[in-house]
Amino acid sequence: MKIIMLGAPGAGKGTQAKMIAEKYSIPHVSTGDIFRANIKDQTELGMEAKKYMDQGLLVPDELTVKILLDRVAKDDCKNGYVLDGFPRTIPQAEVLDEAISGNKDGILTDSSDASKPAGSPDTEVGGGIDFAINVDVKDENIVKRMSGRRACLKCGATYHIEHIPPKKEGICDKCGSELVLRDDDKPETVQKRLNVYHEQTQPLIDYYNKKGILKEVDGSQDMKDVFSAIVAILGE
Ligand code: AP5
Ligand code: MG
Repeated sequence: MKIIMLGAPGAGKGTQAKMIAEKYSIPHVSTGDIFRANIKDQTELGMEAKKYMDQGLLVPDELTVKILLDRVAKDDCKNGYVLDGFPRTIPQAEVLDEAISGNKDGILTDSSDASKPAGSPDTEVGGGIDFAINVDVKDENIVKRMSGRRACLKCGATYHIEHIPPKKEGICDKCGSELVLRDDDKPETVQKRLNVYHEQTQPLIDYYNKKGILKEVDGSQDMKDVFSAIVAILGE
């Protein structure tokens, strides 16, 4: 199963993607997490990405597409994955569609289709995206959520000081590392990220709707209820 999580920054894509990954035993692939791990390790990619991320801007497509395609080509992605934070622009979505299904529609024709050339990928090896799930939360709620978020830069776990506090303040339950307020979660940068989202990423809702794979969930509910709504879409 191949799933894309859509939604504004702070809508809860990462929170839900981790739960999906666990329930359906597929990898959670977050371009934001990949960039943050590279920033932490001070790689060349990390230093380049940081210039954009700190300003609330998107990292250029050339850099982003390559790391994502390398990641989904790995063995553990053979049976699917949940993408969190990718695609974020129409060109990224088009490249993804072409890469995984060999056509811009991103949806494979029936594998019994006799017109298909011999040796074309079937749904097991290739296959288009099955679901694009839009986690919908109004902008006013987002800024509040982000200022309360605390992130572990080592293992990628996220917390919220009110909604999901760690057992010990400031320390990750999973790996014991220190939790931080992400540089891009400062209120002025969050507003900028929201503007960038509306301009460059929101058009993807229409893009996937036209393909017939868009599903909407109300992300302002309690996170367990958001997850139940997602499971109702994906199936038990
Ligand atoms: P990325 O890391 O993807 O950030 P984002 O999209 O801005 O999203 P967030 O991670 O901030 O939010 P989320 O939706 O995952 O919410 P979360 O679950 O944490 O990207 C960072 C940057 O990297 C980008 O700005 C860009 O520069 C660059 N980048 C990444 N991918 C790129 C790409 N493809 N192209 C170009 N550039 C790219 O939840 C938020 C908070 O709310 C948490 O504290 C959580 O605990 C809490 N919460 C979650 N759900 C609920 C709920 N239902 N009720 C109450 N609280 C909740
Ligand atoms: Mg996230």
